[in-house]
Amino acid sequence: MLVLGIESTAHTFGIGIVTGSGKILANERSVYKPTLGKGIIPKDAAEHHENDKEMILDKALSKADIPLEDIDIIAYSCGAGLPPCLLVGANFALDLSKKLNKPIIPVCHQIGHIEIGRLTTNAEDPVIVYLSGGNSQVIAYAEGRYRIFGETEDIPLGNALDVFARGISLPMPGGPEIEKLAKSGKYIQLPYVVKGMDLSFSGILTAALNKFKENVNKEDLSFSMQETCFAMLTEVTERALAHTGKSEILLVGGVAANKRLQEMLDRMCEERGAKFYVVPYEYSMDNGVMIAWVGALAHNSGWKQDLEDKIKPAWRTDQVEITWFK
Ligand code: ATP
Ligand code: FE2
Repeated sequence: MLVLGIESTAHTFGIGIVTGSGKILANERSVYKPTLGKGIIPKDAAEHHENDKEMILDKALSKADIPLEDIDIIAYSCGAGLPPCLLVGANFALDLSKKLNKPIIPVCHQIGHIEIGRLTTNAEDPVIVYLSGGNSQVIAYAEGRYRIFGETEDIPLGNALDVFARGISLPMPGGPEIEKLAKSGKYIQLPYVVKGMDLSFSGILTAALNKFKENVNKEDLSFSMQETCFAMLTEVTERALAHTGKSEILLVGGVAANKRLQEMLDRMCEERGAKFYVVPYEYSMDNGVMIAWVGALAHNSGWKQDLEDKIKPAWRTDQVEITWFK
């Protein structure tokens, strides 16, 4: 069985092709880049996806070395995401499904990030730390759902890093730039905000931007942002491990690429005798493979769903019924 997955929730248009047993045959992507100093403009991103979709499909098919007719199932990112971008992927998926007369499966983007992590690391039943531009959640599977144990109360971590980076004139995406600068920084105090299992990053962001205006240097601010935000996450993740009794941690989403964050979580796992896994870099970013793989899992577990809503811009991780776990 071959599943083609389409990703188009935000900045990335991606197509992945996987087999029913999880062999990855293609992972092609094209990323919309906003003009310098600006955030993503949904209409422009959608236009980018529209322009590149056929080219990415051709590339994916030739990488997998199969004709389009060999695809058995079309899966697409149905949400959460920006409506104009989601519509490009959904309509493309519908067209392909009609043309090929093959089933179509709507996939939740966040579940894609989780499942590609489990597939590529072989983590079985981990506490998942999902950190990206749009999400900051500590998640674990229980009774048919991926439950959210802790999350940001305001902005996601990736977003906080990007806004801070823009504020101090670094290029986008900001996370990797901050990581580089942080290597030569020293600690200055920023607000540390953990409330129960939830986190808040907006106060740290404001404090860091204010200190920049007071001439604190970029290196020290980058280092201190990282140390503070990552320590907060490590604290909440450790508590989630204790709470759930699980013995694995899986780090996914774009921010997972950060080596200092990996180091802090890894050390905590070592102290607790837990295993630590990180999604490989190429699958940490948005991609079509993760969508195809959730399509395969859903199909293999006999999952059936009518296409009630073509897109679900506000779909939440814990609203999705997980029919394939174990
Ligand atoms: P979502 O999955 O919630 O829809 P998204 O898909 O927009 O969000 P991703 O592409 O998974 O987000 O992640 C992008 C984020 O990852 C950006 O905020 C970027 O700054 C951050 N990021 C990438 N590399 C690093 C790094 N090395 N350190 C910290 N952050 C990083
Ligand atoms: Fe994402």
